[in-house]
Amino acid sequence: MWLRRFMPAAIAAGLAFASALLLASCRQDMQDQPKYLPYRGSEIFPDSLSSRSLVEGTVPRGYLRDDQELYTGKTGANVAPTAPTATAAATSASGTSAVSTQPAAATGNDVNEFPFPITREILDRGQERYNIYCSPCHGVLGDGRGMIVNRGFRPPPTYHQDRLRNAPLGHFFDVITNGFGAMPDYSMQIPPHERWAIIAYIRALQYSQNANIADVPPDQVQKLK
Ligand code: HEC
Repeated sequence: MWLRRFMPAAIAAGLAFASALLLASCRQDMQDQPKYLPYRGSEIFPDSLSSRSLVEGTVPRGYLRDDQELYTGKTGANVAPTAPTATAAATSASGTSAVSTQPAAATGNDVNEFPFPITREILDRGQERYNIYCSPCHGVLGDGRGMIVNRGFRPPPTYHQDRLRNAPLGHFFDVITNGFGAMPDYSMQIPPHERWAIIAYIRALQYSQNANIADVPPDQVQKLK
């Protein structure tokens, strides 16, 4: 009787123990298997490096930055190269290319049109990214009163002022890419497409605090009244 009642529990416990042992030994094997860690030497290649450099003069797949406006926020000739060469990509290894070396607001050729159509989906993505990366300082409303500012960080300017309402889109791209004064750059954290999504959302925020009736499409005006 006793056995019958406790047998299943005993078997289950035994099985759990056995599989724990099994998994643990699995981890051990993978832990100790022969492999090359980054930057560790190797006997395979004549230069005794375990990692291979990119072939000079090539562009890694996915890194051909051939759309200048999308990747720099600038028009015209006065911009950094748009495609990292193998050497540039190798030295920065991060995926942000040579485009992020420009000083903020250095040129007057900021674009003022989005390089791709802004859909509802992109705007939502921009809102999400903005709330993660920008709102801690700029505030969820963009008034410059984020949580970090409440704890003593230098307050950023509000987006709801004429200078920033009239600033071209490319200026925002530049600030996110290169930083601005006390603000660090976000080129590592935020890929170019998402920078534009954030900028679209900042424009929406600006409208949210400063729209007038003329901004409302005629067929929607009736709804408001
Ligand atoms: C760590 C806090 C912090 C975060 C996070 C931050 N900013 Fe800023 N931002 C600042 C500060 C501070 C300034 C003012 C810098 C100065 O004048 O020295 C500023 C300025 C700006 C400006 C105004 C530039 C001008 O022309 O005056 C823009 C636009 C901007 N930030 C956009 C963003 C965006 C977009 C994000 C998110 C991707 C972001 N910031 C994230 C602190 C931050």
